[in-house]
Amino acid sequence: MNIFEALRESHERQRTYAMALIQTHGQSEARAEAYQQLKAELHAHETAEERFFYVPLMEHDNGVDASRHAISEHHEMDELMETLDQTDMSSPAWLATARKLSEKVHHHLKEEEHKFFQVAGKLLSEKQKTSLAGGYQKEYEVQLAEE
Ligand SMILES: [Fe+2]
Ligand SMILES: [Fe+2]
Repeated sequence: MNIFEALRESHERQRTYAMALIQTHGQSEARAEAYQQLKAELHAHETAEERFFYVPLMEHDNGVDASRHAISEHHEMDELMETLDQTDMSSPAWLATARKLSEKVHHHLKEEEHKFFQVAGKLLSEKQKTSLAGGYQKEYEVQLAEE
């Protein structure tokens, strides 16, 4: 497995969880669970991806812009989750923010898979692509266990 395949696995989970979240209603157990699931996945993925993908990518001059852009989007998603944490789950505002988060997640994954993976494909060595996959997966598991 290489780093791109490892990241795509997490991305597929995020797409599934984000879709499930916006189909939930009001103050319900289903909504609370769907949100927890997405939040835990996003937090674990962001940290592991920053450490085992964007940090090594940023060591290349041509990888700096993509890395900065992606990390700033991670921050935007974190802020949307902070807003959700502070909003009454039964209010229409909660669902509106959840929809924004879902759209942001989908946009971000598309940009990573269609643009940043191509940039990284040229800059990282074949050996690195394999070793980063292992590092990513280990860190992802550690982060997820802490959620
Ligand atoms: Fe990302
Ligand atoms: Fe990602």
